[in-house]
Amino acid sequence: MKILVTGGVGYIGSHTVVDLIENGHDIVILDNLCNSKIEVLDKIKEITGKAPAFMVGDIRNRSDVDNVFNTHHDIDAVIHFAGLKAVGESCEKPLLYYDNNIAGTVTLLKSMSAHGCKRIVFSSSATVYGDPATVPVTEDFPLSTTNPYGSTKLYIEQILKDLCASDSEWDATLLRYFNPVGAHESTLLGENPNGIPNNLMPYIMKVACGKLEKLHIFGDDYPTADGTGVRDYIHVCDLAHGHTLAISKLDGLKIYNLGTGTGYSVLDMVKAFEKANNIKLPYCIDPRRPGDVAVNFADPAKAKEELGFEATRTLEDMCRTSYEFAKKNFK
Ligand code: NAD
Ligand code: UFG
Repeated sequence: MKILVTGGVGYIGSHTVVDLIENGHDIVILDNLCNSKIEVLDKIKEITGKAPAFMVGDIRNRSDVDNVFNTHHDIDAVIHFAGLKAVGESCEKPLLYYDNNIAGTVTLLKSMSAHGCKRIVFSSSATVYGDPATVPVTEDFPLSTTNPYGSTKLYIEQILKDLCASDSEWDATLLRYFNPVGAHESTLLGENPNGIPNNLMPYIMKVACGKLEKLHIFGDDYPTADGTGVRDYIHVCDLAHGHTLAISKLDGLKIYNLGTGTGYSVLDMVKAFEKANNIKLPYCIDPRRPGDVAVNFADPAKAKEELGFEATRTLEDMCRTSYEFAKKNFK
């Protein structure tokens, strides 16, 4: 298939482009590089031997999106990663998030429709489950959000549901990611956030490389085995492959959790990282982070049954590849 990947230069997008190319697909990337670096394209070529077509542009700009479809007439489907994702920033700048994520998606969908391309896989998030009453979480759990970023994911899901209900030609698969971590085995691709990271694994990576003094664990008084928050960490290469499976099975409206089904606490992650890399991670316990939930992990059964999706990489793989990438790439 010929696939347009929006946000394909970013963390999850770049790993997915590699998996798609390795599975024989032709790729066109549209990215405005607001949170990624153009060098990633060379890394993709180094890994796969093939350079994806790339157009710099913004999904909010109709002429940028039209330009992609006018240049590449034979696009079969879109995988839509482009979006802003920092929860804290979304609380400070909600309009930026609603504009970039929601208005951007509407513009993308209008252009797709005008060019007769009505097949899309969308990057949603486990954040749409809010604070789940029980775990593991299945796709039919009630949806809610606690911040503007999460609201953008929920609204975009609704837009895609409405679109599929209005026109049977549309196929949309909503993938709800749990917590992607890790890096490509080559150490050429990985997550390299600017400044102080918001998320656990990039923060651990910066501490491990001596760029930050110690990890601040946000709360040890949650109702979990060791009191720290529990999440479903999934290797980004496993997550990437989930898109390759999903794109081949587009059929009406589908929704899948992409997780492993196993929850690990913050302290589990610290210990696993120390063991995998034979290092010591200094940490301290801070108060809870506002908006955090105690436990969230997936029931991945539906994705396994319908897509054949199964995460195969271990927690050790996640910790080892993260550190290897950080050592090579964190300046
Ligand atoms: P990322 O920031 O690394 O990648 C996003 C890419 O989209 C970047 O290359 C950025 O430059 C591009 N982009 C942003 N706005 C754009 C616009 N208006 N026009 C064109 N390009 C634009 O993030 P990621 O971690 O790879 O996440 C990819 C998607 O997955 C996002 O939609 C994110 O919300 C979603 N998601 C991420 C996580 C996570 O923990 N990383 C979890 C759940 C869902
Ligand atoms: N944590 C710390 N210290 C840190 C960072 C995080 O103790 O410096 C803890 C958090 O309190 C939480 C766990 O580590 O218990 C994981 O936190 P992350 O910020 O890495 O991940 P979240 O589950 O809070 O959220 C992330 C993304 C959301 C996305 C969600 C599900 O930030 O956008 O995963 O995919 F929706």
